[in-house]
Amino acid sequence: MRLIRLLSIGLYTSLATAGLEKRAAIDDCLSGAGVPTDARGSTAWNQDVAPFNQRVPYTPIAIVVPSSVAHVQAAVSCAAKAGVKVNPKSGGHSYASFGLGGEDGHLVVELDRLNTVTVDSATNIATIQAGARLGHVATSLYNQGKRAISHGTCPGVGLAGHSLHGGFGFSSHTHGLALDWMAGATVVLANSTVVNCSLTQNSDLFWALRGAGSSFGIVTSFQFNTFEAPSVVTVFSANLPWNNAQQAATGWTALQDWVTNTMPAEMNMRVFGMSFSTQLQGMYYGPSTALQQAIAPLMTLLGTSLGQTQQTDYMGGFAAYDNGDTVDVSHPYSLQELFFSKSLVTTALPAAAMQSATNYWFGQAKQVSRSWYIIIDMYGGKNAAIPKVPTNLTSYAHRDKLFLYEFYDRQYYGSYPSNGFDFLNGWVKAFTNNLTPAQWGMYINYADPTMNQTEAQINYYRDSLPKLRQVKAQVDPNQLFYYPQSIQPNK
Ligand SMILES: Cc1cc2nc3c(=O)[nH]c(=O)nc-3n(C[C@H](O)[C@H](O)[C@H](O)COP(=O)(O)OP(=O)(O)OC[C@H]3O[C@@H](n4cnc5c(N)ncnc54)[C@H](O)[C@@H]3O)c2cc1C
Ligand SMILES: *[C@@H]1O[C@H](CO)[C@@H](O)[C@H](O)[C@H]1NC(C)=O
Ligand SMILES: *[C@@H]1O[C@H](CO)[C@@H](O)[C@H](O)[C@H]1NC(C)=O
Ligand SMILES: *[C@@H]1O[C@H](CO)[C@@H](O)[C@H](O)[C@H]1NC(C)=O
Ligand SMILES: *[C@@H]1O[C@H](CO)[C@@H](O)[C@H](O)[C@H]1NC(C)=O
Repeated sequence: MRLIRLLSIGLYTSLATAGLEKRAAIDDCLSGAGVPTDARGSTAWNQDVAPFNQRVPYTPIAIVVPSSVAHVQAAVSCAAKAGVKVNPKSGGHSYASFGLGGEDGHLVVELDRLNTVTVDSATNIATIQAGARLGHVATSLYNQGKRAISHGTCPGVGLAGHSLHGGFGFSSHTHGLALDWMAGATVVLANSTVVNCSLTQNSDLFWALRGAGSSFGIVTSFQFNTFEAPSVVTVFSANLPWNNAQQAATGWTALQDWVTNTMPAEMNMRVFGMSFSTQLQGMYYGPSTALQQAIAPLMTLLGTSLGQTQQTDYMGGFAAYDNGDTVDVSHPYSLQELFFSKSLVTTALPAAAMQSATNYWFGQAKQVSRSWYIIIDMYGGKNAAIPKVPTNLTSYAHRDKLFLYEFYDRQYYGSYPSNGFDFLNGWVKAFTNNLTPAQWGMYINYADPTMNQTEAQINYYRDSLPKLRQVKAQVDPNQLFYYPQSIQPNK
């Protein structure tokens, strides 16, 4: 007994000593290489370590704040030498705090100070530093010749994390995912060399980055193709008269058919369901009169009518869905929420899945009094941009799907309740229990850290996984860029 205690104290002490030695080794290496870091406990440290999702805070071994590509290279080299995992953080909006490593003890490369956006007026190609946030990107592109790329709604989300794993928003039915606009990237690899990649240069790496980019290196800057921002967009919503499972299943089935066959390319929309209301919300790339004409048949099918519409310009459209936040945001960024979230992508739902999902929605979910929501994005269909891109062009695995879902359960005070996980897990199972694996998948931009690494890789990457694991074996065989759901290399 005493001996065991002594042994375990000894073991504990030696582990702690090893931890301190590692920390000292990293500190020495970084300062020797002249890499800027946050002093532990400083204001900058506290800002950089604050996760968007307060449910999942982690403590890095050190935080590097590079101002050059050479600093990123040196940081990667120091991490490799010290045997420490390293992860880039751009907007810090990972639902699982994977920018902080998703666990304690990683070296974090905080990129959010690097955020310049420059449009080449001859080619309309934008060069964007990796730490830029979506609102800053949209504003800067618009101010340089009214250009735009496709992306999501929240101004504080980092372009890097977003576009390296997908990037869906109120432009995506018309213009595809954020990653569909990526033309090239400059990347620091695990051996600390820097390479450019594109369709013609290091093309396997470029393929892997566009879907699973967090596992292959640290992108320091991007090239993006751009499109001309529309001069007029119309923001709209309509209440859905779904008061019970039967009404929801009937309405959703009609909507599904319309999205599959009829929804015009210019229309972008989602169902937004909360405990007390269910709405259709959207953005039409065109004037209000054209929207009203295009959507009238759907309103009849759904037994509702269009609410107020707001005709505005492109930036007005962005502001309409930004939750009232400042659009052009950069460091320091301080918004946080406490939540658990899950994702899903599915094909059109067969009747059994539709029934089961709506039964859960109006039977169980409506009983939960927390501030939850479900978003169902009208993502695919005949006129959608996402399925028009060949599946093998990028590692993004879900182009054949019709809907993208986000399940989000917030807690405003205290800690997240342990029975919250069952609530959303049960809802997702209500779909997947009635689908084949080919009919569904998951989206790592709404990362769910309760899945183990094996299950996560399969659900996020489906048919792309074997090749992703090959590329991982080539560029990062020792998993320097590890986090709990990163790609595992082929043996
Ligand atoms: C409020 C909110 C709104 C959102 N809205 C949308 C939306 O409308 N549509 C949508 O599709 N998604 C949306 N998301 C999800 C968002 O796209 C993802 O969370 C995204 O990964 C965040 O990127 P980030 O750079 O902010 O996060 P981070 O936490 O910094 O990074 C996320 C992951 O990417 C890696 N990474 C970051 N930078 C780099 C880099 N330079 N090189 C390589 N890997 C890198 C990190 O290591 C980490 O694994 C939203 C999230 C939030 C919190
Ligand atoms: C990457 O491309 C940029 C121009 O886009 C160039 O300045 C740089 O030298 C290239 N780097 C490498 C390693 O090829
Ligand atoms: C993708 O598939 C098409 C058709 O099978 C093939 O011609 C093309 O070479 C493939 N591209 C890549 C990048 O693998
Ligand atoms: C991972 O999770 C899946 C699904 O819950 C389970 O079947 C599998 O055994 C788990 N694998 C490991 C290695 O824990
Ligand atoms: C670094 O890794 C890349 C990708 O594996 C490889 O092509 C390159 O030769 C390596 N460079 C050095 C200097 O080892």
